[in-house]
Amino acid sequence: MQRIAFVGSGHLAHALWEGWHRNPPHPRQFSLIVRSDAHRSLWTEVEWARASTELDCLDDAQVVVVAVKPKDMQRALELVVPRIDAQAVVVSPVAGWTINQLRQAGVRGPVARIMPNVCAAIGASTTLASFDGVDSRMGPGLEAFLAECGPLTVVPETQINPFTALVGSGPAYVFLLLEALIASGQQMGVDAQRSRELVSSMVEGAAKLAKDRSGDSLADWIGQVASPGGTTEALLRVLNESGWPAVLQEAVVAAGKRAAELGSAS
Ligand SMILES: NC(=O)c1ccc[n+]([C@@H]2O[C@H](COP(=O)([O-])OP(=O)(O)OC[C@H]3O[C@@H](n4cnc5c(N)ncnc54)[C@H](OP(=O)(O)O)[C@@H]3O)[C@@H](O)[C@H]2O)c1
Repeated sequence: MQRIAFVGSGHLAHALWEGWHRNPPHPRQFSLIVRSDAHRSLWTEVEWARASTELDCLDDAQVVVVAVKPKDMQRALELVVPRIDAQAVVVSPVAGWTINQLRQAGVRGPVARIMPNVCAAIGASTTLASFDGVDSRMGPGLEAFLAECGPLTVVPETQINPFTALVGSGPAYVFLLLEALIASGQQMGVDAQRSRELVSSMVEGAAKLAKDRSGDSLADWIGQVASPGGTTEALLRVLNESGWPAVLQEAVVAAGKRAAELGSAS
C-alpha cells in the first residue's frame, strides 16, 4: 500500500490526485489536509480519502505533496516538516521554491521539485522534475509514479523556473487561445460547443505534428498552411501587425521572471 498525503487541497493538488488515483498499479491510500472550506467542494467525490484538519495524516505517509501557494510555503513547512517521516519523499510543485530553500526550511528526506500542470487530471501533464537525496534504488519508482500524471522530464533545477512559465502556466494561454478561437467561431455563426470540440482537436493535431516532426522548422509549417493571398495569410497579417507573437513572448518571459521572484521573496 502506497500512502500519499497532500498538504494544500487546491486546484493543483486535486489535478495530481486525479492523475494518481485513476489506475494505480498498486493499492493507494490518499490523505489530505483541508485547511478551510474554500476548496472543500473540489473533493466531494473522494469518499475514501482521509480528509483532516489534523497533521496526524502525515505520520505514515511515504509521499507528501506540498501544494500551497509560494507565499504560504514557509508557514506550511514550519507546521508539517516535524511530522514528516525522514524517509518520506517530499514533492513540491511550488513555483520559485528551490530545493535549497526546502532544505533550509528543514525538509530532510528525498525531495522531488516538480513543475506539472493541470492536465495531470487526465494523465497529460508535461512535468519537469529535479531530485535531491533520491538514490538509484528509489529513482525509477519515483519517476514512474510522477509520470502517471503525464510525460516526465528530469532536468537540472536551473531549468525549472523557465519551464514554470512554459509548461506550468502553459495551459492558461492555450485555454485563452481556445477561448478566442471559439469566440471568433461564434462571431461567424458557429455553435460554441461544436467549435470547442473541433478547435481543441485541431490544436491537439498541430501540437502532435510539431512534436512528431521536431526536425522540421515551424516557420516552414506556417508557410505550408499560408498560401499567398489566402485565408491564413490574411490572419497572419492581422496578428503580426498587432505585434501578437512578440507580446506572447514578452508575457512568457515575464512569467519566468515572476517564478524566480516568487522563490527569492519567500
Ligand atoms: N494551479 C496550477 O496550474 C499550478 C501549476 C503548477 C504549479 N502550481 C503550484 O502549485 C501550488 C498550489 O497552486 P494551486 O493553484 O493548487 O493553489 P490553490 O488552489 O490556491 O490551493 C492552495 C492550497 O493550499 C492551502 N494552504 C495554504 N496554506 C496552508 C497551510 N499552512 N497548511 C495547509 N494548507 C495550506 C490552501 O488552503 P485554503 O483552502 O485555506 O486556501 C489551498 O487548499 C502553487 O505553489 C503553484 O505555484 C500550480
